[in-house]
This record gives sequence, structure tokens and C-alpha cells, in this order.
Amino acid sequence: MDHLQDRELIQAALEARERAYAPYSGYLVGAALLAADGTVFQGCNIENASYGAANCAERTAFYKAVSQGERAFSAIAIVGGSREMRQGEVFPDLAYPCGICRQVMREFCGPEFRILVGRSTEDFEEYTLEELLPESFGPVWKHREDSKVKGDGFNSQGE
Ligand code: THU
Repeated sequence: MDHLQDRELIQAALEARERAYAPYSGYLVGAALLAADGTVFQGCNIENASYGAANCAERTAFYKAVSQGERAFSAIAIVGGSREMRQGEVFPDLAYPCGICRQVMREFCGPEFRILVGRSTEDFEEYTLEELLPESFGPVWKHREDSKVKGDGFNSQGE
């Protein structure tokens, strides 16, 4: 992926952020997850009056993608900032993915999966999943000898 495409992925995250539902924290996050086939899945944080039910932008994007049949990913872009911040402004913070979201990435992505955290389309940093989640605990089913485990995990056909 070249630099132009990275900027486009950040832009898609900024657009997703506009749809965040974050009335409790006031902190709006957007994510854009790039699948290996080039499809982009957008996600935003979705909060709840029962605070623990909140879902991060990154996991929204992953769960949308996986539920639509996608399991191969190459990169994710993430932007976050208080509700006053708008597209086109330079966000003061980099919204690094939380620990739970890093673990969800680990389930579906390899160590070279790219994580872009941006202040704007022109100002972002790039990490690999290995850098943000070293010595990680990965999907254990891949190591099982269980004969029912085939392909990329279980589905309704046991594949
Ligand atoms: N949040 C995300 O969407 N992604 C992260 O990686 C960190 C936190 C959301 C959760 C909550 O809705 C708000 O940011 C404040 O924590």
C-alpha cells in the first residue's frame, strides 16, 4: 500500500468517526479496516447507558467484516478525539487501540498487520501489530490436533 492509500484509509476512519455514538464519554473514534481484497470496513465506537456494553470503533469494524465473511486483513486506520473535533482539523491526540481491540486484531491478523493512528490525513503514525502487542497470545485452535478443526475455524459446517 502506498502513502496515498494510507491517507485514504485515514479519511475513511475520519468519516466513520462522524457516525460515532458516544454521548457518555464525548470521545468519538473512527476506524477503517482494510481487507486483503481491498474492501474497507468502517467502524465507530458505540456506547451504552450500561457503560460496559460500549464497543470500540476497531472492534465494530472487525465484527462487521468477520460477520460478512471476511477474515484476511492488511491494515486499520484509527482516529479519535473529543466531540468538538471535526474532519479537516488536526486532532491533538493519537487514538491508540485499547488492549482488548489489539487482542481482537491478534485473532485475525499476523504480526505484520499495519495499524495507522492519525491526527489528520497528513499526520499519522504507523505500527505493526507485533509492535503494539508483543509476546501475544494467539488463536489456540490453530495448534489443536482436533480433527474437527479445518480451514480457518468453525462455522456451521464445522469448517
Ligand atoms: N474507544 C475506541 O473506540 N477505541 C479505542 O481503542 C479506545 C477507546 C472508545 C471507547 C469509548 O466509547 C470511548 O472511546 C472513550 O473511552
